[in-house]
Amino acid sequence: MTFFTGLRCRMCGTPFPAEALFVCDQCLGPLEVTYDYDAIGRAVSREQVSARPQNLWRYRELLPVNEPLTGFYSGFTPLVKADRLARRLGVRELYVKDDSVNHPTFSYKDRVVSVAASRAVELGFEVFACASTGNLANSVAAHAARLGLICYVFIPDNLEAAKVMGSAIYRPRVIAVKGNYDDINRLCTQIADRHAWGFANINLRTYYAEGAKTYGFEIAEQLGWRFPRHVVCPVAGGTLLPRIARAFDELKTLGWVSGDQPRMHAVQAAGSAPVVKAFQAGAEFPEPVKPDTIAKSIAIGNPADGYHVLQTLRETGGTATMVSDEEILQGVTLLAETEGIFTEPAGGATLAGAVALIRSGAIPPDEPLVVCITGNGYKTSDVMQGRTEGPIHLGKGLAEFEDYLAAKV
Ligand SMILES: Cc1ncc(COP(=O)(O)O)c(C=O)c1O
Ligand SMILES: [Zn+2]
Repeated sequence: MTFFTGLRCRMCGTPFPAEALFVCDQCLGPLEVTYDYDAIGRAVSREQVSARPQNLWRYRELLPVNEPLTGFYSGFTPLVKADRLARRLGVRELYVKDDSVNHPTFSYKDRVVSVAASRAVELGFEVFACASTGNLANSVAAHAARLGLICYVFIPDNLEAAKVMGSAIYRPRVIAVKGNYDDINRLCTQIADRHAWGFANINLRTYYAEGAKTYGFEIAEQLGWRFPRHVVCPVAGGTLLPRIARAFDELKTLGWVSGDQPRMHAVQAAGSAPVVKAFQAGAEFPEPVKPDTIAKSIAIGNPADGYHVLQTLRETGGTATMVSDEEILQGVTLLAETEGIFTEPAGGATLAGAVALIRSGAIPPDEPLVVCITGNGYKTSDVMQGRTEGPIHLGKGLAEFEDYLAAKV
């Protein structure tokens, strides 16, 4: 039994069938999935959801797939109560939603790809592909391998070695393009059109984006079917932030959670901050920029869902902030040394943004907040070179160790 009823233009409301469509042919607005919430409310309760296996498909009535085919271990990542970090930042109640340990490719992308890949098979695509800053390519390649799909991933040609290997190991065709993500996205839109391939984040984007809601469902469920007051979220293409808000809206519609919609706060790297700049300027649409930051996974200068992010920030009473590359690296270190979580620069940016919002008073110290950690530091460990102490080299004897200890004190 499925509960999605079709697609609809977010701008003008025109309905569309549930095919591989992503823009409205009337107004060029983005499309979104529609559901029969009354039927969902009759079919399932939050108690039933809580009793299901701990993966993203526990919310399957709220996802646009007839039959889940992959992602049976994806999602339901830890919501870590980060007390040491909270104390350091002077706030009362802070949680880290930790998708750095998402299965199988260690980023939040395993959620969106589980949904897009399942839908790609349902729609009859034989080639599954994506335009990526790195993490999406890893996830698309892994899930395609599991499903036996032909796979092409398109990435910038300057990515970290571990990010490239994290795709190549699954044996897709990895196409490293001389250009940035925005160039690749343009190229892939042309390829999708011409070759009828399923691109997770282009012609399957409407379905892909729905997978990001599971991050929001889990936050509320893991807090005991309760909302935090603030959510701090990284923004690149702008998929995740508005879908967390949409997830909270849906939980309210179903009557599974009550209370005020959390304030959504956006963080970008200063070298790639079109959304933050638009928010600060009071503009409705982001002005594209040329990205330049060490946080390569969030280096997107022309975000597909930038307008939607801005709308969500304003509707929820949130804010937006940008952080320097130095602050990003400090954020990575802070999370590691207080909570034992090693995130990549995107996560460092998010935490650094949360720190800035707490300092500015946008997030008051007594209001619960969730920081969205979306990627894993082991993939980008090169950026931390020189920022940690090297090992102490000693011989095998105890005396040498005792000498070292004595000298240290
Ligand atoms: C680790 C990580 N965090 C966050 C994002 C943000 O993506 P989006 O704004 O498209 O949801 C990405 C991907 O681009 C990512 O790889
Ligand atoms: Zn329209």
